[in-house]
Amino acid sequence: MKKLSFLVTAGPTREFIDPFRFISNPSSGKMGYEIVSAAYEKGFEVLLISGPTSLKLPEKNIKKISVISAIEMRDAVLENVKDYDVLVMAAAVSDYRPAIFCKDKIKKSEKDLTIVLERNPDILQEVEKAGYEGVKVGFAAETEKLIEYALDKLHRKKLNLIVANDISKKGAGFASETNAVSIFSDKNDRVDIPLTPKRDIANFLIDYIVEYIGRKRKVVW
Ligand code: PMT
Repeated sequence: MKKLSFLVTAGPTREFIDPFRFISNPSSGKMGYEIVSAAYEKGFEVLLISGPTSLKLPEKNIKKISVISAIEMRDAVLENVKDYDVLVMAAAVSDYRPAIFCKDKIKKSEKDLTIVLERNPDILQEVEKAGYEGVKVGFAAETEKLIEYALDKLHRKKLNLIVANDISKKGAGFASETNAVSIFSDKNDRVDIPLTPKRDIANFLIDYIVEYIGRKRKVVW
């Protein structure tokens, strides 16, 4: 039987204003890299698409594509996702990018500077539009109304599962060793995991996805 395969995104994206300044977020990539490592150690095929991080993968054999911007991440995901059974979007993708990129360093002046931002594509929604038939797992990073906003993303982005993290909680979300999450499925299941090392959450999530697929397809991987 073909090995179950995972495409996982991790880390932030950078949206450049000029060659030396960008808009980004504090994602370290840890959550996504732990998911990749957990899937690999369980014997599954994995591709990591990573924004800029200082992390290294534990194994040279794990396939990795490095990207910088949301557009680059979108292109890499769309080009590869059809070859993978599961897409896990743990990356913190910037929703906006500067409308104009200045090719030279912007010079300081006495006047205020206004930067106009335009929308980046929503990668999960583009994957859906492209007719991807695999399992889609999103993350929701919220500071308020965690459940309401996560469920809205689950339905609006037509996901199978969503992992909601309350990024206002100490030790959860961005750039920490631990996370606290609630996982919701399109079958109305819910699992709450209190503050736990990201590696353990990753292990649980991979097992949970495998069980979800088993229930859907009635097969054991
Ligand atoms: O990297 P760490 O430091 O370990 O931190 C982990 C994390 C907090 C980044 C991770 O757990 C997490 O929550 N990742 C998703 C953050 C996020 O962008 O959430 P969102 O609610 O803005 O987006 C919802 C989902 O849509 C996400 O799966 C996201 O990858 C996806 N998305 C977002 C924007 C966009 N343009 N396209 C997308 O596909």
